[in-house]
Amino acid sequence: MKIISNINDLRNHLRGQNRAAFVPTMGNLHEGHLSLMRLARTYGDPVVASIFVNRLQFGPSEDFDKYPRTFEEDAEKLEKEGVYILFAPTEKELYPEPQDYRVDPPHDLGDILEGEFRPGFFKGVCTVVLKLFSCVQPNASVFGKKDYQQLMIVRRMVQQFALPVEIIGAETIRADDGLALSSRNGYLSKDERLEAPELFKVLNEIKQSVASASSMTHSMIQEIERAAHEKLLERGWQPDYLSVRLQQNLLVPSQEQFNKKDPLVILAAAKLGKTRLIDNLEI
Ligand code: PAF
Repeated sequence: MKIISNINDLRNHLRGQNRAAFVPTMGNLHEGHLSLMRLARTYGDPVVASIFVNRLQFGPSEDFDKYPRTFEEDAEKLEKEGVYILFAPTEKELYPEPQDYRVDPPHDLGDILEGEFRPGFFKGVCTVVLKLFSCVQPNASVFGKKDYQQLMIVRRMVQQFALPVEIIGAETIRADDGLALSSRNGYLSKDERLEAPELFKVLNEIKQSVASASSMTHSMIQEIERAAHEKLLERGWQPDYLSVRLQQNLLVPSQEQFNKKDPLVILAAAKLGKTRLIDNLEI
């Protein structure tokens, strides 16, 4: 595996390759990330991964400096997965001057759910992803469904800018007890780790209630969401949102869309102690 930090070197190495499959990451890799590398292998060759902790997507209350950096271990894992190039630019390389041009996703997609609680987050994500795409020029790129809204926003960006990249969504990898793998799980105390799978259990309960109802009104959904929120609160969580949305655009479904059984997804974010976890489940 070649570790490259310079954009020109990267382009030289990839010259003539038009089937590259790319997986952008911020490092601190776990089995979930490695599953993205494996999926990337089935969509192109060579596989290029990046590690770049992107300051632009961190809010003022989110600690950029404390984000876990585990470069050596990450590089070893990627090498074992057969990644051909690890692109690991410095901040100076990717943002040699203040990044004044940014990609601002539309309000109805970028400022809801995660975007409501992390203002500017998706603007930072889109800006870096566009820039990384410009460096790597992949034919396909893989993103985890765990970050459901991120995946959708990146897909829309690619569509709107007519970028020649196929965006692939990869299924969420879970621990045996259902907890979605995430770099943030490492912040959980022993007791919190035992409690953490409850988030996915609650999502499953909502799914069952929604899927088993012969008809569903908007207020019935709201009541199901409220009860789930209450349950997490009682167990010591601080939920940000727990919401049933349309898979197609993440908006609240209308009565007609419920009746037509349009595909839905439940999205949730909640804090357990100091750790904020997100998860989702398609219905
Ligand atoms: O999902 C992530 O790890 C990041 O948001 C991404 C896509 C690598 C952009 O920094």
